[in-house]
Amino acid sequence: MARRTKIYEGKAKILYEGPEPGTLVQYFKDDATAFNAEKKDIIDGKGVLNNRLSEFFMNGLNEIGVPTHFLKRINMREQLIRNCEIIPLEVIVRNFAAGTICKRLGLEEGMRLPRPIVEYCYKDDALGDPLVTEEHIAAFGWATQQDMDDILSLALRVNDFLSGLMLGVGIRLVDFKIEIGRVYDGDFQHLLVADEISPDSCRLWDIETGQKLDKDVFRRDLGSLTDAYTEVAQRLGVLAKNSPAASKPTLIS
Ligand code: C5P
Repeated sequence: MARRTKIYEGKAKILYEGPEPGTLVQYFKDDATAFNAEKKDIIDGKGVLNNRLSEFFMNGLNEIGVPTHFLKRINMREQLIRNCEIIPLEVIVRNFAAGTICKRLGLEEGMRLPRPIVEYCYKDDALGDPLVTEEHIAAFGWATQQDMDDILSLALRVNDFLSGLMLGVGIRLVDFKIEIGRVYDGDFQHLLVADEISPDSCRLWDIETGQKLDKDVFRRDLGSLTDAYTEVAQRLGVLAKNSPAASKPTLIS
C-alpha cells in the first residue's frame, strides 16, 4: 500500500496531499491541547465529532454563498478540502466577553459586548499567537487592505450565520475563531473560510443554564469533552439523539 504524502501536521489535524491537484485531505485527530499545548490529552471520538460538525457548518456557509475550503466529507475522520494559502492570522469574533478579552480589559465573563468585536492574532505558536492590529498586518504585508475588508465581511457573515444556527438550538455563540485562505483563479484571487469550525474553535454556552459546551470544558476541567460536543451535535441534528456519548458516535448521513 502506498504511503500518503503528509503536507502538514498541527495540534489537532493532519493535512495530506489530495487526490486531485488543488485539493488536500484534512484528517481530524483526537488530540486536545490548550494554553499553547501546555495542557494535552487524547479525547476518544473528538476528531470524529469535529469532522462532522465542521462539515455541517462549512456546508451551511457554502449554501448561503460564504465561500469555504470544504468540498466533501470522505469518512469519519477525513474531509476533502481546497488547497489554499493560509493568511497567517487568527480571526476572532466576540459577541459576549470570555477568555482573553476578560483578562485584557477587565471585563466580567458573560457580559454582552456593545457589538460584535473582531480581533486579529498573528499565527505563531512560538509567540503564543499575539494580538495584532491592522497596522501590523499592513506593515508586514500579511494581508492587503482589500483582503482586510473581505476578511471583516466574511467574519461578520460567519458570525450571523453561526449565531442564528446556535440560537435555534438553545446555544449562545459567545465567540469563535476562523482562519482565512487565499485561492488563485487565473489572474484573480479570492478568500475563503478555511481550517475548521467546531467546538474546539468556538465558545458555546447553553442559553438557559450557561453550561459550557466547548473546549473550555477541557481547558478548565469541567467534565467530559465528548459529552459536551455530542450534545452540540445532537441538538443540531448532526448526531442521532439516542446515540450515547461514546467513542463511536452514530452519525446521521
Ligand atoms: O482565548 P480567547 O478568548 O482569545 O479565544 C477566543 C476564541 O477563539 C475562543 O472561541 C477560542 O476557542 C478560539 N481560539 C482558537 N484557537 C486559538 C485561539 C483562540 O480556536 N489559537
